[in-house]
Parts: sequence; structure tokens; C-alpha cells
Amino acid sequence: MPEYLPTAPTRGTRDFLPAEMSVRTQVFGHLYEVLERRGFLRYDGPILEPAEIYEAKSGQEIADQQLYTLTDKGGRRLALRPEMTPSVARMIAGNAKSLSFPVRWYSHPNCHRYEKPQRGRVREHWQINADIFGSDSANCEIEIFELIHDLMTALGATPDMFAVRVNDRNLLSSALLDLVGVSPEHLSQVFALVDRWEKLDRDKLAEGAAEIGLSDKQFEKLSEVLGAGTALLDELPEHAKENSNLVKVLASGAADLVRFEPIIVRGLAYYTSTVFEVFDTSPENRRALFGGGRYSDLASLFTPQQITGIGFGMGDVTLMDFLDTHGLTPAPRSEVDVMVVPVVEELLDAAREVAKSLRQAGLRTSTPIELRKLGKELARADKAGAAAVVIVGQEDWAAGNVTVRSLATREQRQVPTAEAPAAVQALLS
Ligand code: HAM
Repeated sequence: MPEYLPTAPTRGTRDFLPAEMSVRTQVFGHLYEVLERRGFLRYDGPILEPAEIYEAKSGQEIADQQLYTLTDKGGRRLALRPEMTPSVARMIAGNAKSLSFPVRWYSHPNCHRYEKPQRGRVREHWQINADIFGSDSANCEIEIFELIHDLMTALGATPDMFAVRVNDRNLLSSALLDLVGVSPEHLSQVFALVDRWEKLDRDKLAEGAAEIGLSDKQFEKLSEVLGAGTALLDELPEHAKENSNLVKVLASGAADLVRFEPIIVRGLAYYTSTVFEVFDTSPENRRALFGGGRYSDLASLFTPQQITGIGFGMGDVTLMDFLDTHGLTPAPRSEVDVMVVPVVEELLDAAREVAKSLRQAGLRTSTPIELRKLGKELARADKAGAAAVVIVGQEDWAAGNVTVRSLATREQRQVPTAEAPAAVQALLS
């Protein structure tokens, strides 16, 4: 027996056959439309980047455990991008002179992370990224939160189906320092613990807190702070709130778009203030649909100029799970609208001519590559989801006519060849 190579894709990666690709094309098409309607401009970049752009500021989880790295023939240490933000910060920094800030950009890259494949997690995923660069204003936060709602609405979601959970890392720092009594040198360890808070049980959390050196009383206060919601704002000192864009959002007309949750800190190290994640309210999808925040220092890897950015990545895996759960997944499109079938090989040229006029009228049209009996061609057209078949018969053709058959009603009628596009269009509407 010869040995064959496996046909399954590499672990953690996916093939997208045409039916699935059709669903994805529709879903992403809606999202691109929303972004373009708001003036976001699309960009793209390389999948290979110098490994150090992730090692510098993305945080340990990505740098130590999840990065796919390689050394190329020129000895360069490269990585498959695990995310787009360092790349876009590089592009913005490199082109800052010619850009008039603020700018709104979006992209749709595939990203690679060496993670354990599980529900909501794979090793190659696609992310819609949308970011605004070059403005500190809280209007950026408002625009990003509005955009999230627009994107979800365009897919048929209603506000009860998802929650935009937001926090400001500086507000949480202040709460930890001023209310819990965490010492500044332990702040980053407490942040790391908070990041895992919703994944660990209470005993493990208490253990983690004790390891950092928090007393039982501090652990209790920390739990209280993380669950306090907007009530936390009343407890925080004024100076901590003065410069917070999130506090401004919560005092604005956009407050209803988000839920202030001090427990949201995000794993990526580069966020400097606002952070947020979007979750499905349905319990079977526990992974975030979007993750994002404001990063004021990332461009400093590439330029002395300070360029702040704020935005998010919206993952395809969790999005598709969300749509399935809520019955919002669109049906795949049919292969074509219409097939043109000659009754004999000699009429294939005629069929191609008819097909050309149908395509010119905007109809998705095919002709047989290997002609079979009419009955088989009709069955094939049915399977392809066509609405109509245009049959080219010998006598009809000689008289300047074709037969237009509806696959839904199986009724057919003869029409002058020039009227075939209109006759098919009438069956589609
Ligand atoms: P992130 O939270 O690491 O943020 O990823 C954003 C989203 O990508 C997640 O919420 C999730 O939907 C999806 N995602 C991430 N990793 C995987 C995976 N292994 N499998 C499936 N889906 C995944 C970032 O990447 C930031 N760079 C986003 C950003 C843009 N922040 C500001 N601008």
C-alpha cells in the first residue's frame, strides 16, 4: 500500500471550503461596509515580522509561549504575526510625516499563535483590526464603542446578545494602591492575577493573592473592588479620575454602550489606559469576541514621536460561534443564478453567447464544461442552487429563441434570445 500524506490541515489551522467561505465573505463584507461607512481606511502588511517587535511590548504570554519563530536564510529572527498592533504601529511610525492625524485604519489579517486548540481558540485565526491613531481625546473611545455596536448590529445582533466590558488600567491601579493597599512593586503581579480572575476558582485566587503577599483582608477588598462596577468611581480619589477618558465616556451620551467592569485588564502588556473586551451573553461562548484598548507608547519602539493609538481586534472564531449560537449565520450563496444548457454539443458556442449576455446583465451564469443529458444538467443546476436554466434547443435557436425554465416551479417558456436576461431576472426577484 502506498503511503499518502494527510489531507487534514495542520493542527489548529482550518481549510475553508466554498460553502463556508461564502458565509465568511458575506459576514466580513457587512463588517467592511460598516467600517468604510465610518471612514476607516483599509491597510495590510506582511505576515512575517522581526520577532522582537512582539517580544518588546506584547507581554510574556505571547512572547514566551505563543510565538511561531524562524530564522531565515539571511540569519534574521522572524515571527509569524500573532497580532496586528505592533505591525500597524510600525507602519504608522514609519509614515507619520505624510499622515494627517487623527487617522482611522482597519485591516483583516490572519494571525498565528501557538495555543492549545479548543472552543474559541485555534492556531491561525483572522482578526478584523480597527484603530484610531494620533488623538488622546475621549471621542476616540466613544467612536470605537459606537463602531463595535454598529458592527454587531450589521450582523443582526441585538444589544442583549453581547456586552462591551470596559476598564481603565489607571483607575484599577489607583484602586489597588489607594483602596486595597497594594505596594507599587506588586502592581503588575496583581494585574496578572486579575487577568486570570474569571478563569480560576476562589481557592486558587486566594492562593495567588497570598503568594503576592496580600493579606486575607486585602484579598477580600480586592474581590470587592473587582465586582464594584460604577460604584467604584465614588470611592476613587478625584485625581485618579481627572484624566481618564473612560470616566468621560461614562459621563457622556455613550455611557449606555458599555459596562464599566474593573475586572477587565487584558493580557497584552502595551495597553496604557482604556481596555475592553466584548463578550457573548450566552454562557456557552466564554471567550471574548473582541479585545482592545488604548496604547500610548507602542510607536516608541520605532520613533521618538509620541503617537497614541486605540482600537481592537475582532476574532473570526468567536464571531462565528456567536452567530451560530444566536441563529445569525447567513446561508451560503448559490453557486450561480442561472445555467445555460445546450441540448447538443454543437450548440455550446450558442450557449456561451447567451451566457455572455446574461453575465453582462449582472447574472452569475455558467455553461457546462462536460455536457450531459438535459435531465442530468437540470439536476445539477438544482444542486447548484440556480434559480433558472436557459435551454438552448436546435429549432428554438434557429428561430431566435431560447427556453427559460424556473427551477422553483419547473415552469418553462420560450422567449426571444435577447429577452432571456430580463426573463431570468424576473425569476430571481
Ligand atoms: P487579543 O485580545 O489578543 O488582542 O485578540 C483579539 C481577539 O482575537 C480576541 O478577542 C479573539 O476573538 C481573537 N483571538 C485571539 N487569539 C485567538 C486564537 N488563538 N484563536 C482564535 N481567536 C483568537 C489583540 O490581538 C490586539 N492586538 C487587539 C488590538 C487592536 N488592540 C488594539 N488594537
